[in-house]
Amino acid sequence: MTPVLTGIRACVFDAYGTVFDFASAAASCRDVLGESATALTTLWRDKQLQYTWLRSLQHRHADLWQITGESLDYALETLGLENSALRQRLMDLYRTPAIFPEVPETLRRLRAAGMKTAILSNGSPAMLESAVSANRFGALLDAVISVEEVGVFKPDPRVYQRALDRLGVTAREVSFQSSNAWDAYAASAFGMRVVWCNRYGQKPERLPGRPDHVVTTLADLPMLLGS
Ligand code: LAC
Repeated sequence: MTPVLTGIRACVFDAYGTVFDFASAAASCRDVLGESATALTTLWRDKQLQYTWLRSLQHRHADLWQITGESLDYALETLGLENSALRQRLMDLYRTPAIFPEVPETLRRLRAAGMKTAILSNGSPAMLESAVSANRFGALLDAVISVEEVGVFKPDPRVYQRALDRLGVTAREVSFQSSNAWDAYAASAFGMRVVWCNRYGQKPERLPGRPDHVVTTLADLPMLLGS
């Protein structure tokens, strides 16, 4: 098949929701959470993202580990699930989220085709290091780039610029992958080529930018890039 995206030198991946399954923490606590696991995952994630955007607007940055704890507290209280042992367990699990199964082989194929691979994430360096090492695929990445290098969260354009600076490529030479539609649109508006991995069946955003391609699994990425 003719590649859809040509001239790509680096593949940059969002982390949570794209490479790592943020639902794995609550799913591992179904013994305590039961049917509430899904509601907790959704509220925790929504609140976590809102806090990143709100703090960025307020110029009151805190790293994602702190925000993940604060958004979990909000979600547990809202759902009537406050319990300090459960909180600790969920936070420990968030440090080592499950990897989506197709990711290692996808990275291997992209690297075999000569592309650089990197993560660009809101996660703190410690969170990302622990998630990557727990899933043992650090050797398949050229860089793990945290927004802490910039001090502001996505979708601030300075975050996407940081990936270009670190990898030594232009925006048009990057294929950026995110399952978070808002992140995919923002990277596109910034000038990157974008593959939106729409794992969650979201509708298109009404925001600047337009992903070049939509897939539902990263396993389709090497084919799109001709690798
Ligand atoms: C990240 C969040 C947005 O990893 O998923 O940056």
